[in-house]
Amino acid sequence: MINYKDLGLVNTREMFKKAVAGGYAIPAFNFNNMEQLQAIIMAAAETKSPVILQVSKGARQYANQTLLRYMAEGAVEYAKELGWENPQIVLHLDHGDSFETCKSCIDMGFSSVMIDGSHLPYEENVALTKKVVEYAHQFDVTVEGELGVLAGVEDEVSAEESHYTKPEEVVDFVTKTGCDSLAISIGTSHGAFKFTPEQCTLDPETGRLLPPPLAFDVLAAIEEQLPGFPIVLHGSSSVPQDEVDTINKYGGALKAAVGIPEEQLRKASKSAVCKINIDSDSRLAMTAAVRQVFAEKPAEFDPRKYLGPARDNMKKLYIHKIKEVLGSDNKA
Ligand code: G3H
Ligand code: 13P
Ligand code: ZN
Repeated sequence: MINYKDLGLVNTREMFKKAVAGGYAIPAFNFNNMEQLQAIIMAAAETKSPVILQVSKGARQYANQTLLRYMAEGAVEYAKELGWENPQIVLHLDHGDSFETCKSCIDMGFSSVMIDGSHLPYEENVALTKKVVEYAHQFDVTVEGELGVLAGVEDEVSAEESHYTKPEEVVDFVTKTGCDSLAISIGTSHGAFKFTPEQCTLDPETGRLLPPPLAFDVLAAIEEQLPGFPIVLHGSSSVPQDEVDTINKYGGALKAAVGIPEEQLRKASKSAVCKINIDSDSRLAMTAAVRQVFAEKPAEFDPRKYLGPARDNMKKLYIHKIKEVLGSDNKA
């Protein structure tokens, strides 16, 4: 049993309290490899932003859970080397799918876990989340639960259509489970294709697809039920069109990729939404940079020459999110 506190990590409790009170949101960035982690830590250290490092089931399979955990421990030391005196870094399991997975992460030093029972019947979701909370809280590890189902694919949990969170269920769920934060469904979804072209309108000036707005009325109703309670938004990539254009220019084939407009995420950040999950945008930034190097320098074969620009591009993206969208800079 390794306690996250011995690794220099923190849980989300204080972080979320301050974010809700301060009207900003903490970035939760997924990582799968060293370059992503470096870019996240460089961006957080430079902006003095609290940050959540997210490890998905896919990341655990790709990179190994133990290795990722040691990388996160290294990230705390790296952040200090970069001059961040008191790094506020959370190591979080994204979309935990069973009690055993959550326990295994807690036992090896994660400071926060998500148990995603959103696809289960309500009472089963309550029972599973409660079981994880009871285990996690013994070690002061915080737990994110989820109510409502996002459209598309949720880490091997698929849903035919989006089912918004029912505001009338949230008090009962939070009270019965004791979870520390709640992921909700108000129209976001995972990946780079969040809306079909039919769901969007065409901006005559730019020729871009404009997606429908998020259900801010549902968010407001949830906040009314749970004043000040930390709310989480998954599927919050904006799918920057310049990255999509670069990918397509250099041989990619991303057609009709659409994300959540930044303006809506700015608005959400000012509410009780205090954790915003971003993965796809980092994938796009990385792919755009790598494709550009491959196209412009076909003789290059030193990985540092294409992964370095990819890292730079991701760092730029993370800083932009922190400073211009979530408002979490200078909060740590
Ligand atoms: O919620 C989904 C995340 O973007 C993680 O995706 O399972 O492909 O790592 P992944
Ligand atoms: P995106 O696919 O919009 O980046 O969402 C990531 C996410 O919700 C991770 O849990
Ligand atoms: Zn998610």
